[in-house]
Amino acid sequence: MKIFTIPLALSAFAACAVSLVGWQVHAETNRVKFPDLDGLVHYTTVKRGNVMEHIMTTPAAIEAVKSGQPIPAGTHFVLVDHRDGELYRYFVMQKGEGFGADYEENRRTADWQFQWFWPDKSINMDENTARCQSCHRSQESSDYLYTAYRIPRFNGTPVE
Ligand code: HEC
Repeated sequence: MKIFTIPLALSAFAACAVSLVGWQVHAETNRVKFPDLDGLVHYTTVKRGNVMEHIMTTPAAIEAVKSGQPIPAGTHFVLVDHRDGELYRYFVMQKGEGFGADYEENRRTADWQFQWFWPDKSINMDENTARCQSCHRSQESSDYLYTAYRIPRFNGTPVE
């Protein structure tokens, strides 16, 4: 029995290694840049157990959503993720002209790209941002955003 299970396990490992290389390429070459957080507006907070997320975007994007206009190219959305009161990581979405062309259609999230940054603003090289995209694709009808629907209610105090 053993003699058959070993090669099987090895080939599964090889397949895994190949796809990990692919993931790292995506994480490296994507066009998301860490934004200037001071220029962003914190419009909503999501709390779940020991997790607290501050979600922010540009004043221009807030205006666009409130007036029913498309979110402009150059916009960042940032989810500042805290665990037990400590900064844990930053999830960033950035919209840019032509960003969608970097991906096959079955992965594309219009002109949005995604990135995971650690508190020192380095990229998490173990993350496949295709995962981010596949989840956010379910929000296509709200420009790939989960919490934009809260923006119209935002009047200076983060919506909870
Ligand atoms: C399993 C589904 C899922 C995956 C995978 C996922 N997200 Fe999200 N994302 C959400 C949900 C749901 C929210 C709304 C906030 C909440 O409920 O925590 C959100 C919110 C956000 C926001 C705030 C803007 C918005 O859409 O409301 C950003 C930025 C974001 N995610 C970036 C990322 C990045 C970067 C990754 C990958 C590293 C990622 N997400 C992976 C489900 C997902």
